[in-house]
Amino acid sequence: MSSANANVLTLDDFDLEGKTVFVRADMNSSIDPRTGKIMDNSRIAEAAVTLRDLARSKVVVASHQGRVGGHDYVSLEQHARILEEYLGRPVKFVDDVMGRAALQEIRSLSDGEVLVLDNLRFAAEENFEFTIDEAMRTHFVRRLSSVIDFCVLDAFPTAHRAHPSIVGFAKVKPTMAGRLVMKELKSLRKIQSVMKAPFVTVLGGAKVRDRLEAMEALIQGGKADKILLTGLIALVFLKAVGKIKGKLNLQNEEQMVEKARTIYQKYDEKFELPEDLAVERNGERVELPVSSIEDPTQVRDIGSATVRRYVRLIKSAGTVFVSGPPGVFEDDRFSYGTYEILQATASSLGITIVSGGHLNAALQKLGVKDWIDYVSTAGGALVMYLAGKKMPMFEALAVSYETWSNVAKGRGGA
Ligand code: 3PG
Repeated sequence: MSSANANVLTLDDFDLEGKTVFVRADMNSSIDPRTGKIMDNSRIAEAAVTLRDLARSKVVVASHQGRVGGHDYVSLEQHARILEEYLGRPVKFVDDVMGRAALQEIRSLSDGEVLVLDNLRFAAEENFEFTIDEAMRTHFVRRLSSVIDFCVLDAFPTAHRAHPSIVGFAKVKPTMAGRLVMKELKSLRKIQSVMKAPFVTVLGGAKVRDRLEAMEALIQGGKADKILLTGLIALVFLKAVGKIKGKLNLQNEEQMVEKARTIYQKYDEKFELPEDLAVERNGERVELPVSSIEDPTQVRDIGSATVRRYVRLIKSAGTVFVSGPPGVFEDDRFSYGTYEILQATASSLGITIVSGGHLNAALQKLGVKDWIDYVSTAGGALVMYLAGKKMPMFEALAVSYETWSNVAKGRGGA
């Protein structure tokens, strides 16, 4: 057992040759709403690292993709094909999660073969959160544990979710951290030892419910002196404070707006809101003051005055944390806000952290990825971790350590 890895078992702690290893990866990727195709392969590329180390095992790869009802709630068949390219060896796919077909495919794996199961969230239980003890009694964990020997948790971006595939195997099968999780933990440990105030967080992206939860956690954890709002979450706050009218076409919109209002009333001095926004008009980018926005669903980016103010705040930060894109940067007309925020972050003298697959792609396009101190594949999970929240995946790894370290290599076990 490597002492540096305190209470986490890793791939080095077991002899996995010839064994059936379930790997919970996170290959959840952005999907083009028009074509249904994957837009960014980075999470699949990262998943391949651990799988390369399991070249002599029978490997079962599992991941979720999107959320029920979303345009990105699709099968993992194309992920399997892309994974095959990164791994350089054949990857099987089964359009099943825990039914007879999946179990049959798993049982018939030979050493060195890799099988990708279909989208975990096609199984109902994977859309709910459980305690470790509840999760081990789910159909998913009971069925899968009848055909696997070990579980590897490598889905760092899903570390904040207590889903059966994340927490359910800890007491049932020796469960260890994958290479990606160890890499992220190492980087986080380093970055946390040098992070300093003032903490400036730029929040964007589309996952409003998560963002609302995260910002409270960051403020309460003393990790947000200023929160610069962009993207959809900015519109929710602008609506909450009465600066824009009109529908955002958001699920549970009233509830979200009400929650934003409560948070704003409690911590208003922490927040910076956009003063201007960019909308699409006759195919062109047009910038408008917030008071002139009639239909908020047409907003695609933050405006130049907002960018200038935010850039000044970023430059004065001790630590800058950017999570979620400020605009629809994939469209050149609306990339300005995202690129300027990332350029300012890259040039900041503070400690810089950028999170989430989307921004990863934007940093690469700008050629400044190496200028950022820590770039993570995780979005919500990273925010929760930095805010000091309990992370179900790490709790599961700690429970597995307590349960299985006596059977780990060097202790007379596996
Ligand atoms: C992410 O992209 O943040 C992770 O894959 C988790 O996805 P989720 O927010 O849909 O649980």
